[in-house]
Amino acid sequence: MLHNSESDYPFGRRSRADSKGGSQDAIAVKDLVKRFGSFTAVKGISFSVKAGEIFGLLGPNGAGKTTTISMITTTLSHTSGSIKLYGVDVLKSKDTARQMIGIVFQDPSLDDQLTAWENLDFHARLYNVKEGKKEIISNVLKLVELSDKADALVSTFSGGMRRRLEIARGFIHHPKVLFLDEPTLGLDPQTRRKIWDYIIKLNKEQGLTIILTTHYLEEADILCDRLAVIDHGKIIKTGTPEALKTSLGGDIVRVGAAKKKELCRLLENRNFIKSIKETTDGLEISTKDGSRVIPLIAKIADSNKIELDYTTIKRPSLEDVFISLTGRGIREEGAEAGSAWAKFSRGGRR
Ligand SMILES: Nc1ncnc2c1ncn2[C@@H]1O[C@H](COP(=O)(O)OP(=O)(O)OP(=O)(O)O)[C@@H](O)[C@H]1O
Ligand SMILES: [Mg+2]
Repeated sequence: MLHNSESDYPFGRRSRADSKGGSQDAIAVKDLVKRFGSFTAVKGISFSVKAGEIFGLLGPNGAGKTTTISMITTTLSHTSGSIKLYGVDVLKSKDTARQMIGIVFQDPSLDDQLTAWENLDFHARLYNVKEGKKEIISNVLKLVELSDKADALVSTFSGGMRRRLEIARGFIHHPKVLFLDEPTLGLDPQTRRKIWDYIIKLNKEQGLTIILTTHYLEEADILCDRLAVIDHGKIIKTGTPEALKTSLGGDIVRVGAAKKKELCRLLENRNFIKSIKETTDGLEISTKDGSRVIPLIAKIADSNKIELDYTTIKRPSLEDVFISLTGRGIREEGAEAGSAWAKFSRGGRR
């Protein structure tokens, strides 16, 4: 079933880890650094992910998300720091760690000249999946709704179908942790929602711990139990999406009023108002609980014969969190430009 809004995501981000009793650290990263020559792309980051969680690395282009994931998944060497996967030292026991890991790379990595089935079969061979291989391949194709395309060449697939197949391939060898690097980059909103459904299904039904990177704030909000905001190679804040939003401390109330200066004078020293500023047609008020404050403002306006043209409440979004942490919006740097996946799914080829 396709979901259409945040309220349609009953499993979204809350308590999946708790409901599975997952208190064990699936991943523990400490002081991880990556230098490319004189440039430091990852500047000593630390975080942990509980078994059964969906954990997000949220940040703009060049923040260091792929570099971080590449070090954890052993596809890139690290400069310093430690990485543990279910207690296994990834840097010392690469092969053991690799068996626990499934990866969906940011850039496309399917073989165009093979069918969907052949791509999966090839991956199963690489990971030495022998027992029940046919059944496993057929089940993963079913999960991403590509059963009827099993024998079609990948070169005939749309961007969304390719991404679904890559996700299916990522967990064919029963990894404990699935890494998804920008799982929905460049896809249309409907396909993106479908992919969210598969991610939630994998997490909920198969108990997979999932680490994903994204610069889509809505995606992070809907999917992630917890997330780390990463910018310029550093984690600047970690928490649940709710906690991050709440940390901004309340709501923004906007009121429209021709007599805005008079209303401002009447409101500015009230204890329920944190800050107040004039806008072109009224006031913008920062407050702890907008729904409680609007009736109070209306009463004050009414008893002073000030007409209110409108009132609105805006709850802080992850975008507001990002702006408050970094001083700029996440999309300001042209988030989708330059990605091979975006080009690929728009019809280009590697
Ligand atoms: N092999 C490399 N050599 C030199 N610099 C690199 C290399 N790989 C990445 N970088 C640089 O490291 C920084 C982090 O890159 P990274 O790919 O991790 O960012 P990202 O957060 O995944 O960005 P995006 O959202 O665009 O995928 C960037 O400034 C990038 O140019
Ligand atoms: Mg990246």
